[in-house]
Amino acid sequence: MVVFLVVGTALAVLLVVYTVLHRPPRLPADADHLRPQQPRDCLECHGPGKRSPRKPNHPPAESQCFNCHESA
Ligand code: HEC
Ligand code: HEC
Repeated sequence: MVVFLVVGTALAVLLVVYTVLHRPPRLPADADHLRPQQPRDCLECHGPGKRSPRKPNHPPAESQCFNCHESA
């Protein structure tokens, strides 16, 4: 019985820690990001092999960047 309580609590804590630490960063307010852009323009720099590729653990997303990332 107690083991379920312990495991359940551990899972809940892990979930909270994960959501708190795994937040999408805001767009930096620099020249690259202050002009209006469509999500497909973002991949000109953030696509694979480009200037600033996203990390491999980035959520799979080719558009809708602004669902998660707030603009500068
Ligand atoms: C002209 C190239 C370019 C374009 C276009 C561009 N970015 Fe960036 N972006 C960069 C570079 C270089 C960095 C990292 C350096 C910095 O902080 O500016 C960056 C950083 C970021 C970061 C912050 C990463 C972090 O770890 O804090 C986010 C989020 C981001 N870009 C999202 C976007 C989105 C969404 C778009 C489309 C609206 C976009 N970018 C368009 C070049 C670009
Ligand atoms: C489902 C939500 C979601 C969508 C949609 C999304 N992102 Fe992200 N993005 C994140 C999260 C969460 C992180 C932080 C990843 C981490 O800390 O490991 C992140 C991080 C980044 C970073 C920083 C580098 C990195 O890989 O950690 C850049 C640049 C970025 N996103 C660009 C984009 C662009 C461009 C798009 C649209 C093509 C996009 N994101 C769409 C959630 C999202």
